[in-house]
Amino acid sequence: MIHEILKMGDARLLRIAEPVSQFNTPELSKLVADMFETMAAANGAGLAAPQIGVNLQLVIFGFKSNPRYPDAPNVPETVLLNPVLTPLSEEVDEAWEGCLSVPGLRGLVPRWSKLRYEGVDQFGAVISREVDGFHARVVQHECDHLNGILYPVRIRDLSQFGYTEVLFPEMDPNQDD
Ligand code: NI
Repeated sequence: MIHEILKMGDARLLRIAEPVSQFNTPELSKLVADMFETMAAANGAGLAAPQIGVNLQLVIFGFKSNPRYPDAPNVPETVLLNPVLTPLSEEVDEAWEGCLSVPGLRGLVPRWSKLRYEGVDQFGAVISREVDGFHARVVQHECDHLNGILYPVRIRDLSQFGYTEVLFPEMDPNQDD
C-alpha cells in the first residue's frame, strides 16, 4: 500500500523516533513492504518511517539506478532499524540532496565522508557496515529523519538551495519530485 509522504511543515517530521523493540512480526513486514512500495512510487533513494507518519527508528534505502540521482552509484537495498552512526574520519563532503518531504527542491549539504552504521534488519539480524560516498550520504540523510532533522537545516550557504528545475534544468521533470 502506497502511503502519503508528509511534507516539511508537518510537526510529525520533527519528532524523535522510538526504537523498534519487536522484530520479525507481520506488522513490521507490512510496514517495510509499504515503505518500499511508497519509495518506489516516488522514485526515492530512501525513506524513513516518520515520513509516512510512523514514529519508529526504521529507514529503508538502496537502488540499482535512480532517475532522481542519475549519477549515483548503486547502494544495496537495506532495511535498517535502531541505527547508530559513527563517523570514521573528520572529512566532510558537500553534495546536492533532495528529499521526498521537501518536493521540488535541492540543496548542497555537508555530510561525513566515511562512517560506520550499525543496527538490525526487520528480522533482528545485525547490520554493521563501513561506507563512504553516496551510500554514506543516503544513510545520514535517512537517519536524520529519525531525529526530526530535514536536510535544509544542514545547508551552510542558503544560496545553494533552490528549485530542482532551475538548478538542474536538464533533469526530466517527470522523474523528479
Ligand atoms: Ni528525506
